Amino acid sequence: MKVPFTWKVTGWFMVGWSAEYEIGDVKPLRYFGEDLVAYRDHAGDMHIMTGHCRHLGAHIGHGGKVVGDCVECPFHGWRWGPDGRNRKIPGEDRVNRGLRLQVYPVVERNGCVFMWHHPEGAAPQWEMPDILGMFPELGTDPGNFYRPYPEFSRKTANEPVHPQVVLENGPDSLHFEYVHGATVTPRMLDYSAVGHTWNFLTGWPDARSDDPDRMALKIHAQMFGLGGSISAFDGSSKHRLIFATTPVDDEVSDLFYSIWWPRVPGDSSDIPPPEVRERVERQFLVTVWEDLSIWRYQKYVDHPPLSPKDAKPYLSLRQWAKQFYDVPPADAKAPA
Ligand code: FES
Ligand SMILES: [Fe+2]
Repeated sequence: MKVPFTWKVTGWFMVGWSAEYEIGDVKPLRYFGEDLVAYRDHAGDMHIMTGHCRHLGAHIGHGGKVVGDCVECPFHGWRWGPDGRNRKIPGEDRVNRGLRLQVYPVVERNGCVFMWHHPEGAAPQWEMPDILGMFPELGTDPGNFYRPYPEFSRKTANEPVHPQVVLENGPDSLHFEYVHGATVTPRMLDYSAVGHTWNFLTGWPDARSDDPDRMALKIHAQMFGLGGSISAFDGSSKHRLIFATTPVDDEVSDLFYSIWWPRVPGDSSDIPPPEVRERVERQFLVTVWEDLSIWRYQKYVDHPPLSPKDAKPYLSLRQWAKQFYDVPPADAKAPA
């Protein structure tokens, strides 16, 4: 997908789920055009850094080993610390103080792993929020929900979709009927751009009521930068979800989707029972594939002829999105 803005977006971006990394696990990742290594050290902390060893360039994510808080390169055993510095060269009693791997800040929130990306390596400019803590009026206790991973999580890799295009689904009320087979059209009840967040409240009118203002379902949502959005459903359904998009390079992204589904009263298990799994799959997990069938072939339109219903929030979102583009697009012509 060609877009008139960079894929090297600033912000927090989801790169996986905590449960994918046991203590001592080392894995290769590729995001923002960089080969990366992710590992969980022996104290349980996650780290993400440049994947290629500064000695002779082996990819540490393929065969590297955790030693204490370091990761050891599989080629000649050089060890790198969580600050990216060289900690050990086998057979030598010195370290190389000049060489350093670039370190990307990592946080884990509610079982999801996020990395901070800034095209020039600047430090995080805001905190990644707690997913279940975001809408305190709707409850914050993780114990009220089934575990999101693996049952209620999906990832799809290397999709030709830019994060902004995914978020533009939020203010797009009119696609629900066509793409998602909705029988009522949701209504944007409120929206606001606040710093690095874009917040909205959507209502799904109650089809059985004569009162057009009566809502069967409300969806509170916050975009945590361009990396994704966190939603809380209130009404006929009371689940939470995260939908996140992380650029792999300047053409494709990985998409992550997790749902926190309320536990059936009296069920003390963390693992959702089959009938709940089946319902969530059918009603909610499919929506991502429906949107993707459009996004995969969509062409970005710079000045779309928007319906009056959607125009204001849509343009607000696009204006807000500009703050995350600290560099020009890769194919931008140099100024004459
Ligand atoms: S390439 Fe990593 S230790 Fe030699
Ligand atoms: Fe959608």
